[in-house]
Amino acid sequence: MKFQYLEEIDSTNKYARENLKLIEDKTVIYTFKQTAGRGRLQRKWNYLGQGNLYMSFVLKPGKIMMETYSNLTQYLCVVLSQVFEEYGVEPKIKWPNDILIDNKKISGILAEGVVEQNKLEGIVLGVGVNLNATKEILEEINQPATSLNLEIGMPIDCEKFLTKLTDKFCLMYDKFIEEGFLLIKDNYIRRAGFLNKIVTVRVFDKELKGIAAGITDKGALRLIENNKEHVLLIGDIL
Ligand code: BTN
Repeated sequence: MKFQYLEEIDSTNKYARENLKLIEDKTVIYTFKQTAGRGRLQRKWNYLGQGNLYMSFVLKPGKIMMETYSNLTQYLCVVLSQVFEEYGVEPKIKWPNDILIDNKKISGILAEGVVEQNKLEGIVLGVGVNLNATKEILEEINQPATSLNLEIGMPIDCEKFLTKLTDKFCLMYDKFIEEGFLLIKDNYIRRAGFLNKIVTVRVFDKELKGIAAGITDKGALRLIENNKEHVLLIGDIL
């Protein structure tokens, strides 16, 4: 893995997309000061002060199945969960790729593909991790959120966290590109906090409500709504 540190940037994902041609495969662009971060569902990703991590993996897998591309966020989600566990906390995954601790969000993932002339030039896999946020600043976010320092009661060394995360990400990455979601299915399901519960899922501009009945071998959510099964590859549990 190669690293590029930016003192300050509007968004590491935007920077990575705009400079994709100049950035090598398996590079991490990271900063501790991101001023205009973007999230899923057109949301923004707040800057929570120095000491929190904002990063984007730039990946250029030569040949990749489209479904494996969308599963990459789930791969990163499992890797992130394993790193959190090394700090002694118990993360739960909310499909497809949010990580919660006691129902409070601690990190978010945003994947963006860069396509030129119908060819996938690369994937930018952005992740924001709350590592050293204060309670006061978290209260300004419009959804329940937490930070690793608050969970374990001590400050977190951001560089150390970054190294742990990137090392673990690299460990199985090539195998994952080859094998896809099945490689991580058990690890994903073990941490899934939403299964067998009633959930509301946003799919584009529609909302579906039902029981989260399972995860398929392709990482899709099986949602049962009034005895009708939906198999969702895209969407967000709200
Ligand atoms: C979410 O909505 O949960 C996804 C949030 C993703 C935030 C990260 S921070 C680093 C990277 N750069 C961005 O602008 N967004 C992602």
